[in-house]
Amino acid sequence: MKCDIKTLTLEEKIKLLTGKNCWQSETASGKLPDVFFSDGPHGLRKIDIETEATEKATVMPSLVVLANTWDVELARLDGATIADDCIEKGADVLLAPGINIKRTPLCGRNFEYFSEDPFLAGTLAKAYIEGVQSKGIGTSLKHYCVNNREYDRFYQSSELDERTLREIYLPAFEIAVQAQPWTVMCSYNPINGVWASENKWLLNDVLREEFGFEGVIISDWGAVHNSWRAMKATLDLEMPYRPQAYQELKVGFEKGYITEAEIDARVEKILQLMEKTQNDKKVVTTTKEQRHQNALKIARSGIVLLKNEENILPLKQGSILVLGSFYGMGGGGSALGQTEYCPRSLREELAERLAGKCEVVNGFAKVDNKNWATGMRFAAQEAYGKDVVVICVGNNEQIESEAFDRTTLRLSATQEDMIINTAKVNKNVIVVVTAGSAVDMSAWIDKVKAVVFAGFGGEAASEAVADVLAGNVCPSGKLSETFPLNLADTPTGENRGDGFVDEYREGIFVGYRWYDKKEKEVLFPFGYGLSYAKFEYFDLKLEKKGATEYDVVYMVKNVSDTDGQETSQVYVRDVFAMVSRPEKELKGFTKTALKAGESKQVRVSLDARAFAYYSMPLKKWYVENGEFEILVGASSRDIRLTETISIELPDDEQVTH
Ligand code: BGC
Repeated sequence: MKCDIKTLTLEEKIKLLTGKNCWQSETASGKLPDVFFSDGPHGLRKIDIETEATEKATVMPSLVVLANTWDVELARLDGATIADDCIEKGADVLLAPGINIKRTPLCGRNFEYFSEDPFLAGTLAKAYIEGVQSKGIGTSLKHYCVNNREYDRFYQSSELDERTLREIYLPAFEIAVQAQPWTVMCSYNPINGVWASENKWLLNDVLREEFGFEGVIISDWGAVHNSWRAMKATLDLEMPYRPQAYQELKVGFEKGYITEAEIDARVEKILQLMEKTQNDKKVVTTTKEQRHQNALKIARSGIVLLKNEENILPLKQGSILVLGSFYGMGGGGSALGQTEYCPRSLREELAERLAGKCEVVNGFAKVDNKNWATGMRFAAQEAYGKDVVVICVGNNEQIESEAFDRTTLRLSATQEDMIINTAKVNKNVIVVVTAGSAVDMSAWIDKVKAVVFAGFGGEAASEAVADVLAGNVCPSGKLSETFPLNLADTPTGENRGDGFVDEYREGIFVGYRWYDKKEKEVLFPFGYGLSYAKFEYFDLKLEKKGATEYDVVYMVKNVSDTDGQETSQVYVRDVFAMVSRPEKELKGFTKTALKAGESKQVRVSLDARAFAYYSMPLKKWYVENGEFEILVGASSRDIRLTETISIELPDDEQVTH
């Protein structure tokens, strides 16, 4: 298909800038194909236009789990797998991925986002987009930008300085845009008082001109307040259909606020999108069963083993009681997909894997967030005398969702009591936590032997958890966000803005940057995760490739008798700086598969951006001359190797991209 804009009337062109209904774009009186948009991000959520029912598709692990894999190839696989469902169901553009920074663990949509760190979020999102788009299906990178909580998300202005914006909230978009998502979705909120949908500086000057985005900017559903103003800011397509939108644009044109040339520029973008949806080759390459297997692969790789005292895991032999049938596949809201797959319970999955070694029984208790059917007393009786008790706790789509935030980082009182009471009668308690973001475990973590963070694992969650508990899979996930000791320790604490303005007072100190600066103890640091294997790091060398280009080269060895995978992380620290800088910042990472006893060399490349900060007076990235430490670690608080380099640039080369 190729459409010539000259064949369209002004009325048709104006209409093209608005949605036809909730999910499709306009067609210019039937001359053009519509574009069908469907949510994401962890599986297709296509709504049938007639019945409004959600069509069934593979429910992949949530992005929190994908992020915890730290695996770029799995991010690509995730995208490609979801794209096959899109092709089969006729969705043209997947409304995903979401990459907003996890500024507070309370944010209701954290499960849909990647990380507190922009480099990790951007790198994985880029691969996810490449995966989806390699199959001829478009993506919508969302929500651009600075929408970091759900409270009053439509109106509350995110107020922050440009350095914070540039260093924390924009880089993930900047990196992901390198994959040229077919669309970017603007957020609901104003930024420093200007709606994201009307913010010409952010949409045009930064996103298009600086970051080089070539595609269509669409609005979040209902994020436009005035259509011609949004168009003037270069928003291309307002979604969904809104009765007043056409009139607003027409009046804007008649009064001379917008010109036909400006309308044409937006229409051209939409026509290019239509051409892509029509012309790009779409071939389904997986069966439903293979898609399920891909979901399982990602879920396994994203499970994080947080605690494993006396190596209680993997499970060895004896009697095992499984308490709690509570298993959230994912969070709620627009991300809530529906699967055809009927998952079995964790007990069934475990019993199959441990047949002949362990007797696995289900307990009486239903551990959920309401106070009914808890059966605490019965559970404790059952737990008494068992060799091991596995308790499943966590959140579900009623607690973590779109449009509201969590009110606490703690589990429900019922769930906490269940753990504490069980631990009183059995010293071998293993807790499996299903949640989309950090959980405060202070009430019970010292009383249990092991903790497994499963995230929201999608339709294959119970299989993946059973594989890790049984030892069929060696855990390799690492946290993509810090687990603080409690809410008061987080950069924003209980502050959620006042309904008018949310002041980003912590500035660039978000996530581990905050806990490092404040020298705060945390429950589990960013980048942390245990394994059944054990890894050593050695032989760090820095190879200079240019004035500010270095290859960080080091060895990682599996010094155990278990095959495993290790994510090593490269952080950079500016030793002396004229401005306030984080203690360290993630600038590279690699996940390496290592057989028992095997060593491999790892190479991570750094460029000027790895050393630069955003200078507000210069309005540019700037490398300050002096010493930088290169820190290689197993987590942000477990640095294994350090080397120092000195950068001496002539004045005119210190300003960088
Ligand atoms: C959400 C978007 C979603 C859209 C369509 C909005 O409320 O913020 O993430 O893609 O709805 O469902």
